[in-house]
Formats: sequence, C-alpha cells, structure tokens
Amino acid sequence: MYRTFAFSSLLALTAGLPQRNRGGQNQATAFQQAAQVPQGISPAADGSTILDDTVMVNGLPIRFKISAPADQFLSASGVPGAAAASSDGTLGANVLLHGDGGQSFFDMPNQNVQANTMGVALLAPDDNLFWGGGSGLQRTDGVAHAQAVNDFVQNELPQRVAVNMSNVVFTGVSGGSLLMSGFFIPAQMQNYANSAVELNCGAMPPQVQFQNAATVMSQTRIHYQSTQSELQLLQGSIPQAVTAYEQLAADAGLTADQVNQLQTVDNTPAGGHCEFDGQDFVSGVQTMLTSYSNVVQGGNGIVQGLGAPSNGAVANGVVGNENLQFVGGRKRAAGGQSMVQMRWAQDVVEEADFQALACDGSSCGESEF
Ligand SMILES: *[C@@H]1O[C@H](CO)[C@@H](O)[C@H](O)[C@H]1NC(C)=O
Repeated sequence: MYRTFAFSSLLALTAGLPQRNRGGQNQATAFQQAAQVPQGISPAADGSTILDDTVMVNGLPIRFKISAPADQFLSASGVPGAAAASSDGTLGANVLLHGDGGQSFFDMPNQNVQANTMGVALLAPDDNLFWGGGSGLQRTDGVAHAQAVNDFVQNELPQRVAVNMSNVVFTGVSGGSLLMSGFFIPAQMQNYANSAVELNCGAMPPQVQFQNAATVMSQTRIHYQSTQSELQLLQGSIPQAVTAYEQLAADAGLTADQVNQLQTVDNTPAGGHCEFDGQDFVSGVQTMLTSYSNVVQGGNGIVQGLGAPSNGAVANGVVGNENLQFVGGRKRAAGGQSMVQMRWAQDVVEEADFQALACDGSSCGESEF
C-alpha cells in the first residue's frame, strides 16, 4: 500500500523535474528506459497486427512499429499470418514522428488503417527521445535523423510489409513536427510524390537547403494544427513556418488559390500544447489522428471532437491566416522542457531510479512522500 502510494507520488514528482535529474550518472536515459518496454507482435485497436522491432539505419538504431492487417506482412517479418507475396502493396503508410520524450510512439494514435493507409511510428534514435536531437528549436541532429527516417521508409519498410510507395504520408507531433518541417520536407520530401504532412503542435521554417522545392511545393499537402494556448516557443515558430512554406509555394509559381488548396492552418481549439480536444495531450493527439484522412488525404477537412470553440473545420488556407492569434503564453516553454511528454515511462521506471530521484533534491526523507 505504502509502496504504491510512494510510486505514484514520485511519478508526479518526476514529471515536474528538470532534465538534469533524468540524465544523472546512475540513471537510465529516456532511450534506455524505452528499451525496457518489450518489442514484439501485438494486436492493434482495429484488429491489425503491430510489429514492434529495431533495425540499424545508417548506424542509428531505429525502433519502429508497423500496424497493418497480418496478411499484408511479408513472411520475413515473422508476423503470424503474413501472406504478402511481394513488397508492392495496395496500402499506403502514414509515418508518425512523436514529440519529445516519445509518448506518441508508444500510444501509436495512427495504428488503425484509415483511407487505405497503414500506420507506422518511429522512435527517435536519441538519448532524450527528441527527434532531431538538441532541444527546443535547435535540432542539432536534424539532418541525420531526417535521412534515417527516409532510408527506413525506402529500404526497411518494404522488406517487412507490402506497401504502396506512391502513397506515403507523414505526421509530426510537437518535436516530430519540428524535424518534419525543419529538415525532412526540405531534404527528403522530393522522394515522396503527392504526399501529405500533418504538423501537429509544432513547426519551424526549413533549416537546410531545399531539394527540388518547386516540385515538392506544387504537390505536397501540408496542414498545421495548433491550439490557442500553444507553447510560447512554438507560438513564434509555427507562424514563421507557415509564412516560409507559403513563400516557397509562391516562388514555385502557385497562385494563392493553389496554395490554399495545399497548405492549411488552424489553431482554434482552446487548450495547451497538443491539447486539440481541449483536454489533454494524449487524447488531443488521438483526436487529430482519428480524422487524419479527412484533413490531408482528400477528405472534407473536418476533425471530430476538437475542443471548443472550434467547429472542427480546420482546413483553412494559409494565405491571409499566417498571423495566428494565441492567448496566454507559457513562460516555461522558452527552454523547451515543457515539450517533453513521457507518461509511458511510468511503467518502466525502476526502484533504483525512484531512490535516486527521491534523494536528488534537498531531502531524502519519507516525509516528502
Ligand atoms: C498507390 O497509390 C496511388 C496514389 O494514391 C494510387 O494512384 C495507386 O492506384 C495505388 N496503387 C495501388 C496498387 O493500390
């Protein structure tokens, strides 16, 4: 009884601790903690099968989840019921990059097949589980991580599941959206014709040279989704991204109408970072992914279950809507720390970590808990 109480109290405490307490000498990094969550094969919510495994890509360990009907896997995947005869499939893939700390990798809000598209989630090869490494808007490993994401999709995914490589689309959550907009779209999107990206609760302008910008901008669907009380850091960078990508499209010769068909933005829900349903990070991100195809795969642009006062119609063209209005910035956002979400770690944090954390402050006493 006492132990359970201490456990949950400590979890509440660790959620508020600064990063230095997580990365101490005798403590597991977020990446090491993630390794304690077993890989393997499990059922998805819609009856698909999730394969969770790790493969080295360009010297980086890329842990992945592929969620697809069992018969779409190739026998080399080891999935029971795998029946695909070749890498060429009819299902596309929605590749999701989680936010700082990895929460959406473990939740996998894109695990259900939607609009003929399977779900794929990748875990950042980074001690802190930050896509692009670094922190905040400084994603110091962005180039290598974007390359690894591309090379996984191009070379590793088709070895495990039959996939329509002409229908690969992407989702970013928070820090994953920073990698997508800052690095992946400019450097790698040239490899994905007629693709789409949903940038949830995060975006920044391109940080690297743009490859084949005119082609990419003329055929890539981009939606930015934020909330009224977005983190301060992102209140600055999301409008900058909107403006930069709009300009790139104009430079490619697109008219304002054409830009508005391809690039849309919304931040009407009242709520904090990624709280699109007005409630919570996890349920908010799930809300966006449940209506994913409606927004960026040719649907009606409506997201069910967004927080008030949103009416759910999010596909507003960017032209004239670049200057998003926010309320109530959060000061803590300046250092990027409040972007971190790793509730999944509650299941794997060990006794030793608790003791180290408990004694890390001014007191080790039981009275603290
Ligand atoms: C693959 O996706 C493209 C683009 O959505 C589509 O035109 C094509 O018919 C698909 N191919 C198969 C085999 O389903």
